[in-house]
Amino acid sequence: MSVLTICRAGDPILRQNSQVVPENEIKTAEMQTLIKDMIETMHHTQGVGLAAPQVGVSQRIFVYGFEQNARYPKEKAVPLTIWINPEIIHHSKETQEGYEGCLSVAGLRGEVPRFQSLEIVGFNQLGEKLHRIIKGFEARIFQHEMDHLNGYFFIERISNFDHFGFTEVLSENKLI
Ligand code: NI
Repeated sequence: MSVLTICRAGDPILRQNSQVVPENEIKTAEMQTLIKDMIETMHHTQGVGLAAPQVGVSQRIFVYGFEQNARYPKEKAVPLTIWINPEIIHHSKETQEGYEGCLSVAGLRGEVPRFQSLEIVGFNQLGEKLHRIIKGFEARIFQHEMDHLNGYFFIERISNFDHFGFTEVLSENKLI
């Protein structure tokens, strides 16, 4: 396993619409290595989620999950989950504001409105079909990572820029 290099804002791959993974490629050794490396990279960088375009692979794959995270100390654990070709089939009407950051724009935080709950389908790393309802912080992470697959940054979703800035400065001003 290895820690991969994170692509940062300015890299065109982060603005692309990622490719659907052919179902017969999910169980290949190459794909399994990529997924393991993504998980290792997420843990190494203290991320709560990581999308394949962030490691230079323009495919519809992301991973998320943590037990405790220094960057989001108030959030409850989210189980390690791997999504391949995820699709949102339904979402709540209600949205909720919450702070997000991103390894590709490290150091910045902003408050982003996200749907409170989602119904989603996709595949896991074994090629099994998943159908889940998720809510709260997990739904937030899912929407953030889904944005990466579609070439968007969380910054584009911010509605109130009074709460956007460098983590340290927001903290100095007691905004987070
Ligand atoms: Ni991100």
